[in-house]
Amino acid sequence: MKDPESVATSDRRRFLGRLLGGALGLGLLGMLSAVVAYIFPPHRRFATPVRRRQRVAQLREIPPGKGKQVLFGGEPVWVLHLREGLIALSAICTHQGCIVNWDEQRGTFTCPCHGGRFDAHGNVLAGLPTRPLPQLRAEVIQEEIYLARREDG
Ligand code: FES
Repeated sequence: MKDPESVATSDRRRFLGRLLGGALGLGLLGMLSAVVAYIFPPHRRFATPVRRRQRVAQLREIPPGKGKQVLFGGEPVWVLHLREGLIALSAICTHQGCIVNWDEQRGTFTCPCHGGRFDAHGNVLAGLPTRPLPQLRAEVIQEEIYLARREDG
């Protein structure tokens, strides 16, 4: 017959072992999910569902060859005045959501977080992003720049 005290000690050890194993398992799961989220970031869309056209700037504020960051639906958007006209792109990096910077000299967007780079049309040039910067529709009405969401994006 077993000593009741040794049975209690054994049960306590087993319980503590399971508790420790569970805590380690949860910790590993948390680390694994962070790694998976880093490698496969969730697809981000504009948080604010703005479908209407919104005035964001005057045309004279963005002369040819220049770009300006504006807010559309509360989110940052780059409006570029390129040779072919205006182009508006979300300023939110498609990798993990950092705000990209427009490099006027190179004609590219650079992400300060992990070095992702995009061309002036939002296409990925280098780095960790796998998706282009979402484009918005830009139009000029009476010298004012308006943005709207594209139906496909
Ligand atoms: S957030 Fe990672 S490259 Fe932009």
